[in-house]
Amino acid sequence: MTRYHSFSVPYHTLTFLVCFIFIHASPAAADKPTELVDQVCNQTSNYTFCVEALYSDSRTPDADSYTLAFISFGLAYTNANNTTDYYIAELFKNTSSQDYHYRLETCSHDYLRAVSKLEEAYNDLNSETFFGLAELAGIASNASDHCQDTFKGISSPPLESRNGDLKRLCEIGATIAKLFTGSS
Ligand SMILES: *[C@@H]1O[C@H](CO)[C@@H](O)[C@H](O)[C@H]1NC(C)=O
Ligand SMILES: *[C@@H]1O[C@H](CO)[C@@H](O)[C@H](O)[C@H]1NC(C)=O
Ligand SMILES: *[C@@H]1O[C@H](CO)[C@@H](O)[C@H](O)[C@H]1NC(C)=O
Ligand SMILES: *[C@@H]1O[C@H](CO)[C@@H](O)[C@H](O)[C@H]1NC(C)=O
Ligand SMILES: *[C@@H]1O[C@H](CO)[C@@H](O)[C@H](O)[C@H]1NC(C)=O
Ligand SMILES: *[C@@H]1O[C@H](CO)[C@@H](O)[C@H](O)[C@H]1NC(C)=O
Repeated sequence: MTRYHSFSVPYHTLTFLVCFIFIHASPAAADKPTELVDQVCNQTSNYTFCVEALYSDSRTPDADSYTLAFISFGLAYTNANNTTDYYIAELFKNTSSQDYHYRLETCSHDYLRAVSKLEEAYNDLNSETFFGLAELAGIASNASDHCQDTFKGISSPPLESRNGDLKRLCEIGATIAKLFTGSS
């Protein structure tokens, strides 16, 4: 009996320990970005933003670089498309200032340009044409910079966070595009 107990205690302790480790380790493992995501996001200006953006898509945990390219350009496209159609349209309705209106007009053109370039990138991806992707992402990103500059000197510029998001989403797209073309 004494012997039996002396073995059963460590056994249960071990079972408990294994369960404890399993329960506490698994959420951390699920949150850990894939090696590919890690490699891509490590090359961007904001690692956290990059991981969060890519993981907003349920395909990311199983994505190869081709799928990840679709995800990133899709996110940038949706962001730009939405900014044009809903957000800027709202801002126009909300202002009576001529000057503000004029600046918004500039941003509206910038975003239409971004949408069209990102649409082109998406079509390129569909036809597995990779060489122009990084430049298209760059043009879309520059469009967001141009819009940002348009509101320079204005306190709390209206599209600041939208511009920042688009710029960083384009950066992710450009980084992934370089995986295909081998340039860095
Ligand atoms: C992340 O980037 C740093 C330098 O920018 C580099 O030293 C490191 O090896 C990179 N890590 C990965 C996982 O790519
Ligand atoms: C990076 O992105 C995260 C998540 O979007 C944000 O909370 C943080 O402020 C950003 N950091 C910088 C330096 O912009
Ligand atoms: C872009 O916005 C337009 C207008 O709201 C919408 O009809 C279209 O479906 C959007 N495109 C995509 C691919 O979501
Ligand atoms: C785009 O705008 C629509 C309507 O406001 C909204 O329901 C949707 O969540 C937005 N999508 C993104 C990705 O911002
Ligand atoms: C426009 O104004 C309305 C009412 O003041 C406000 O709820 C909405 O958030 C504004 N839209 C934008 C895009 O700033
Ligand atoms: C974006 O703007 C920068 C700075 O003006 C410029 O050097 C770069 O060539 C532009 N990129 C594209 C793709 O137009």
